Amino acid sequence: MTEKGLADVVAAETAISDIDGKLGRLWYVGYDIHDLARWSTFEETVFLLHRQRLPTRNELEDLTQRLVEERELDQWTRELMPTFADVASPMSMLRTSVSASSGYDPDGWDQSAEANERKAMRLVARFPTLIATYHRIRSGQEPLLPNPSLPHAANFLWMLTGTEPDEEAARAFDVCLVLQADHTMNASTFVARVVASTLSDMHSAITAAIAALKGPLHGGANEAVMKMLEDTGEVDRVEPYVLDRLERKEKIMGFGHRVYRTEDPRATHLRRLSRELGERIGDTRWHDLSERIEKVVQERKGLYPNVDFYAASVYHTLGIPTDLMTCVFAASRVAGWTAHVREQLADNRLIRPESEYIGPRNQDYVPIEERS
Ligand SMILES: CC(C)(COP(=O)(O)OP(=O)(O)OC[C@H]1O[C@@H](n2cnc3c(N)ncnc32)[C@H](O)[C@@H]1OP(=O)(O)O)[C@@H](O)C(=O)NCCC(=O)NCCS
Repeated sequence: MTEKGLADVVAAETAISDIDGKLGRLWYVGYDIHDLARWSTFEETVFLLHRQRLPTRNELEDLTQRLVEERELDQWTRELMPTFADVASPMSMLRTSVSASSGYDPDGWDQSAEANERKAMRLVARFPTLIATYHRIRSGQEPLLPNPSLPHAANFLWMLTGTEPDEEAARAFDVCLVLQADHTMNASTFVARVVASTLSDMHSAITAAIAALKGPLHGGANEAVMKMLEDTGEVDRVEPYVLDRLERKEKIMGFGHRVYRTEDPRATHLRRLSRELGERIGDTRWHDLSERIEKVVQERKGLYPNVDFYAASVYHTLGIPTDLMTCVFAASRVAGWTAHVREQLADNRLIRPESEYIGPRNQDYVPIEERS
């Protein structure tokens, strides 16, 4: 029997990303995440994950333009949005609208490698529009059209808040999108590859991945972190809050990781961004609270923050509502999911593991009228 939760099981070969959990290192296609956080952009990262090399200037311009042209929603998905805004939670909206939009994808049911590449770019381009349109309708505001003169990250904030972010905010958000774009065989990526391996379609694989990301043990943790920050409220209340949770054997959201045994390298950048963005607006309350929680959890439990912990205060400071935080994570991770689906299909074999049967054997079938 393998480890519970498939820990340490290698489920696929990939050239997309790699982690060293002991050293706290992460690479996309061999490029250190620290270099990418410093120098790259989301658009360039999309190219890197999909083509497994950095683009030339012309190639980057082409991809950027393609993403700009694919931002608008098809009419069917747009028409569904008021209903989603009324009845669906943000991640349910995202999951269902990606599924629904498959029917109106210009490439239809074409599953060629070329069509899948176009579907992938379309999905990457449209996630921000889906999220922003939903949010504006549910808050009684007019949805905004994408602004073709803005890069992906800045346009996302513009469509969501109605305010064009300044350079610093736009760059901070762009870095967040770079940091979360891929992460080896996490639960949602694994799910996407399993669905792709049955030769189902791109939209089905991404719909399933969104469903997996929704859970609080995966992408849903960032929302839970923000709620924890709001619940504690004051730095002085952190220690009793954390101790109480630990006493009750409850998890502290945003801490721990299946692979990292030291600091998650993405958390290093998000911690810095959380502080810088707080200082910029003259309100470091959420950052201070986060740092205090980190210290107490580290002292008491020896756990390090993961990507979701400081993402919460960063997103909050950027004006992203708490219940949209997991959707924002998805808007970044869709770059990796779609790259993994394409990689799976390029050398496919059905993913179908074994199970170990632990139930009773050799039972005698008793007709229903004779059962007590
Ligand atoms: C990420 C996570 C699911 C990894 O899970 P995992 O590899 O299966 O590890 P386990 O849940 O088995 O945890 C191992 C031990 O550390 C403890 N632990 C792990 N994360 C913890 C946390 N966030 N708070 C408190 N204790 C934690 C577990 O209680 C367990 O302790 P035990 O051995 O005394 O029972 C887990 O750390 C977690 O639930 N974290 C909180 C949710 C989160 O932030 N998710 C986002 C991940 S990027």
